[in-house]
Amino acid sequence: MSVDLTGRHFLSMKDLSAEELRQILQTAHDLKLRRYRGDLPPLLSRKTLAMIFQKPSLRTRVSFESGMTMLGGHAIYLSPGDIKIGERERTEDIARVLSRMADLIMARVFGHDIVEELARHSRVPVINGLSDHEHPCQILADLQTIEEKKGRLAGLRTTYVGDGNNVCHSLMYGAALCGMHFTAACPKGYEPKSHVLSEAQALGRGSGATIDVVNDPAQGARGADVLYTDVWASMGQEAEAAQRREAFRGFQINAGLLAGAAPGAIILHCLPAHYGEEIDYDTARTPNSAIFDQAENRLHAQNALMVLLAGRA
Ligand code: CP
Ligand code: NVA
Repeated sequence: MSVDLTGRHFLSMKDLSAEELRQILQTAHDLKLRRYRGDLPPLLSRKTLAMIFQKPSLRTRVSFESGMTMLGGHAIYLSPGDIKIGERERTEDIARVLSRMADLIMARVFGHDIVEELARHSRVPVINGLSDHEHPCQILADLQTIEEKKGRLAGLRTTYVGDGNNVCHSLMYGAALCGMHFTAACPKGYEPKSHVLSEAQALGRGSGATIDVVNDPAQGARGADVLYTDVWASMGQEAEAAQRREAFRGFQINAGLLAGAAPGAIILHCLPAHYGEEIDYDTARTPNSAIFDQAENRLHAQNALMVLLAGRA
């Protein structure tokens, strides 16, 4: 393929063209196969990834760290207390210093402006490992999973049930890039940001994807090929958890919702899950559920992303 992602930042799904996204997904499928065959080459040998975390993580930390190990490189975990981004020193200075020592930077932050500022001052690619506004690495893995299970992306119908949050935003852009129809079913007042909706709708006009928002989960889920959900209260919203439990009542993936979806619909959740809230445990364990393949694909999708940004594909 002719697209070249060397040296690029990855802060948002909308940073990618449809061709660039296709290249990442193809590389992810290929690297997964090679890992299973036991012939994954050390594509990132002598490369270092610096990982900045302002928030907790299981999947993001372990997938990036294991990914660097299996590709022959090294990852450094910087915990929330280690560098106290913006407190101990300026974000700008952190970017300037880290990018003289590391080859890639990944950051999980609260404000999206922090990853943007890191990128502005970094000489090396900065990867958004989740901000309050987007979670693009998650969506690379999600699209890889949907393609594995359904054999295609274009023309499918994906419905996201729950909070119009960071995951929903990135999924919306991702669906729009791939020509996948997308509906967000959210309670009133918890819909995705209106500018994200209009940007995704504009992207969708190029790919043939329709992107919309409804306030009724059953209506949204009807005929869907993919049902997706995420927690009702994201990291940093813990104080709103009780109020959100009230607002989101009924916005749950369960047997009833699944019954209205298309036959063979798959269920996705970025995890961690709050069983009994946004998804019930039994439904998350049905054969329709692909949540653990989806979690595994964080590894393969990000390996693809890192080798492409590092110019080592
Ligand atoms: N899905 C995801 O990003 O998981 P972690 O918060 O555990 O990294
Ligand atoms: N929306 C969730 C996703 C966790 C992976 C959060 O931001 O906490």
